[in-house]
Amino acid sequence: MEPTTTSDPAPAHAGDQSREQWSSKIGFVLAAAGSAIGLGNIWRFPYVTGENGGAAFVIVYLACIAFICLPYLLAELALGRRSQKNPVGAIKAVTGRTPWMLVGGLGILTGLFILSYYGVIAGWTFGYIFKNVVSPDTAFADFIATPGLVLPLFALFLGSTAAIVQGGVEDGIERAAKVLMPILLVLMLLVIVRGVTLEGASAGLSFYLNPDFSKIGSGAIVAALGQAFFSLSLGMGAMVTYGSYLPEKENLLSAGGYVALFDTGIALLAGLMIFPAVFALDGNPQAGPTLVFDVLPGLFQQMPLGTSVGMLFFLLLSVAALTSTVSLMEVVVSYCMDERHWSRSKSVAVVTGGAFAFGFPAALSQGISPTLTDMTWLVGESGVLGATDFLGIMDTIWGNISLALGALLLCVFAGWVWGVADAAAEIRSGAGAFAPGAAQVWGMFIKYVCPLVILVVLLDAFQVI
Ligand code: TRP
Repeated sequence: MEPTTTSDPAPAHAGDQSREQWSSKIGFVLAAAGSAIGLGNIWRFPYVTGENGGAAFVIVYLACIAFICLPYLLAELALGRRSQKNPVGAIKAVTGRTPWMLVGGLGILTGLFILSYYGVIAGWTFGYIFKNVVSPDTAFADFIATPGLVLPLFALFLGSTAAIVQGGVEDGIERAAKVLMPILLVLMLLVIVRGVTLEGASAGLSFYLNPDFSKIGSGAIVAALGQAFFSLSLGMGAMVTYGSYLPEKENLLSAGGYVALFDTGIALLAGLMIFPAVFALDGNPQAGPTLVFDVLPGLFQQMPLGTSVGMLFFLLLSVAALTSTVSLMEVVVSYCMDERHWSRSKSVAVVTGGAFAFGFPAALSQGISPTLTDMTWLVGESGVLGATDFLGIMDTIWGNISLALGALLLCVFAGWVWGVADAAAEIRSGAGAFAPGAAQVWGMFIKYVCPLVILVVLLDAFQVI
């Protein structure tokens, strides 16, 4: 080993000197929170909460975040910072060329596929900024079945994502997140104040805040854990990649803690934004995926200043979605750059093209192409865990099953192959508070609790148990 000029006993790293880095801790926290905060928080969290009974579901969700997701998030960040690599390269850096690299490969594929259909939904949100001004009476179902709208919107959204990722880690992703995330928070607070001051809002507050545990079954627990993983961008190595741009001196505990806190805070605020308004204006909290798109604009119309509130709302949803699609694209791009030695431009172009190719059928699957809208010809009457349209099937396979499987395998990898001692040492670098006792508790979670819980939830989802 080379003699070092500093007294800092930091471990030698596999990364090279030229690798890009975040300029500051706050830059990392905002970019990672930007990845985590997205349609998952503002569109998906409220409707999943509404479908699963409200307040009691929220408590189960919070428990999943604290006991399963947070320990797991630390493992992803540690693996990334230790190796300074994308998910495939990170695993290779720790164990050499072993079949474990396939777990990283699964993460890259998952990123590409989630990006493809997520970009389609993000395109709708973008269109909704203007739709409620231009054509307020068009129903959601008709809007998403109009090829002349959804395809250009999808292309526009992917293009914007590509432009930010092309800018690189510091000038593209970090700068965008620093501007966009605070705007998002301010916009949300405005909409909340409008919602909770409506007459009749209190029924929504009590649905959202007074738990009724008789509503919690195993279905709700599966939904809560799945939602928690998706919301924190876990299970496919996105946090490995973002962690890989972190310098050794940063405190992973507090950085990860802030990301989880912001993500959870925004999800909770999203509920506060939606439920009081839904109840005040006689909407149905169990409307499902259309809750935000169909119910809310209807409610906005009945509010004073509704058109402006509606525009603001969909603007902030688009902003949140954009910082998330950026992270999905960056994972795949970092793989192409590290492992294939492509330039950033070439990687961005190829990944954008790939996402467009797979997103195209997803965009057509909401009423435009009958073959893609109703795929029972391929998946049977019951579909893939309930989904029978192309977009829904992609979400179930990649956004649910693959993330859970990836998280399970990465837990086993970090806990048993890389080893909790090495992983904990990486976390401790920069985080003096991660004392041996804390590390031991964390190790128990990564080796036993997290993988077992995820396994049970996966088996339950497949109705094996
Ligand atoms: N977390 C984002 C959301 O809540 C979506 C997302 C971005 C994501 N990157 C991810 C989900 C990586 C899983 C894995 O909308």
